[in-house]
Amino acid sequence: MRAIAVSEYGATPALMSLPRPEPGPGEILVKMIAAGLNPFDWKLADGMVKDSVDTSFPLILGVDGAGVVEDVGPGVTRLRHGEQVYGAFGSIKRGLGAFAEYAITRDDGPVAKMPEGMIYTQAAAVPTASAAALAMVDEARVDAGQTVLVVGATGGVGQGMVQLASLAGAKVIATARDDMAGTMRRLGADETVAYSRNGDSADDDLNARVLAVHNDGIDAVLDVVSDTPATEDIAQLLRPGGTYASSVWAVNPDSMEAKGLRGVNVDGGLSPDVLDRLSDLVDASDLRVRVEREVPLEDAPDALAANRAGGARGKTVIRI
Ligand SMILES: NC(=O)c1ccc[n+]([C@@H]2O[C@H](COP(=O)([O-])OP(=O)(O)OC[C@H]3O[C@@H](n4cnc5c(N)ncnc54)[C@H](OP(=O)(O)O)[C@@H]3O)[C@@H](O)[C@H]2O)c1
Repeated sequence: MRAIAVSEYGATPALMSLPRPEPGPGEILVKMIAAGLNPFDWKLADGMVKDSVDTSFPLILGVDGAGVVEDVGPGVTRLRHGEQVYGAFGSIKRGLGAFAEYAITRDDGPVAKMPEGMIYTQAAAVPTASAAALAMVDEARVDAGQTVLVVGATGGVGQGMVQLASLAGAKVIATARDDMAGTMRRLGADETVAYSRNGDSADDDLNARVLAVHNDGIDAVLDVVSDTPATEDIAQLLRPGGTYASSVWAVNPDSMEAKGLRGVNVDGGLSPDVLDRLSDLVDASDLRVRVEREVPLEDAPDALAANRAGGARGKTVIRI
């Protein structure tokens, strides 16, 4: 089967011809129709988990996807042949991922039936980023009446957080370059704030821009891009008792506690329950997942390089 894989950590992802996986006990083999791209995919290729997870090479990249159940292993009870499913796929240990004609997932794992009316390219864009957005908003305990700053608002996770924080009744300030200010407002942001990539010039000082409007501070920061020094800087915007949530494990909870704040590093776990919650949100149009571009499988290496370079304005979906 055709798949996008790396031959070793640090290698450039490439189109390869690899054996089709067989579903083992409790496993489902899915004929993939579309796969969603996340920053994790190129971070995995770089070796992000090389010291913590056993890996087989060639390693097929990709986690998110949608397709049709082709075959099931012994003991599978929940899903059956021919069903349309979406969720997370693969096994790093076995070198398997979602950027392939066939992918493996578990019957008791992060996969669910696709909601009626959802198309494959849309479904593939949902899982990882939207689950992270949900977990960030939940774990930051975003509530009605709060003022919340979303940092990294224009990408996959950020657009979800803007919508879900707004749905919770919070006043949302979204970071946005000029080209995305209108989109952010349409997704539910009450205000947008400009930023520079490194935030080191006085004119582009994010804190000053927020304080100019909210001089008594804000209640929460939902941040998917800042490193630890930047989180310490941005945390100055928070009122006593405020929360700083990071999806990139950049927050130092002890340091936040010393400032009278709560710091949380968030992992957006995927499960059938989380996927069902996301399906309901999409069904109700409370969560719109913006597909920025669709590319054929052979162009996935270029799409991974483009995501690494920055500038995401929504999700990239790979048509298998
Ligand atoms: N912990 C988890 O479970 C989990 C789950 C999902 C994702 N993540 C992580 O969360 C991060 C974001 O993921 P994603 O899928 O949303 O990425 P993405 O789709 O690539 O979006 C990132 C967005 O952030 C913007 N950005 C970059 N630097 C910024 C800055 N200094 N201030 C404000 N905005 C900035 C980018 O636009 P410009 O480049 O134009 O600035 C882009 O729109 C990734 O590192 C990912 O690995 C973690």
